[in-house]
Amino acid sequence: MKKVVFLTFIAMSVLLTIVLMFNPQTAAGSMKPLKAGPGTALPDSVHKMVQRACMDCHADDGNFMAKGKVNFSTWEKYDAEKQASKAKAICKVLTKGSMPQKKWCANNPKDVPTQAEKDMVCRWANSLQK
Ligand code: HEC
Repeated sequence: MKKVVFLTFIAMSVLLTIVLMFNPQTAAGSMKPLKAGPGTALPDSVHKMVQRACMDCHADDGNFMAKGKVNFSTWEKYDAEKQASKAKAICKVLTKGSMPQKKWCANNPKDVPTQAEKDMVCRWANSLQK
């Protein structure tokens, strides 16, 4: 009997580990509502793209106008509503192709977000819970 309990415990731990390991991907890939709000960081997959393609301007040491609109250095301090509405705005500018700015894209062709990254960001934006 004890052995069964022990084995169940092991099986649960393994399952939990798997779920936690794949969480960043499922977070950006699923339509399950995600929590937003203070202390909530960008999912790794989103952060990777943002750091490469947006944070030259949208960060503490970036462009004054840009960080006034969205500052990825202080994303975690935004409240849930602000995170959700900024995420939607980010999806919108990516879809339209207005960000990153044309000149930046011309100078950094390798860092321009791919279509797959844009789709991923929009799925994340649409799944954020206010
Ligand atoms: C070369 C600098 C630069 C880069 C790179 C850049 N931005 Fe911007 N962004 C700006 C500036 C400047 C503004 C404010 C003026 C404006 O709206 O055009 C802005 C505004 C915005 C806005 C607000 C637009 C609105 O309509 O209110 C969003 C959202 C945004 N950027 C998202 C992004 C995202 C996402 C990326 C990366 C994929 C990115 N930006 C990359 C400079 C940049």
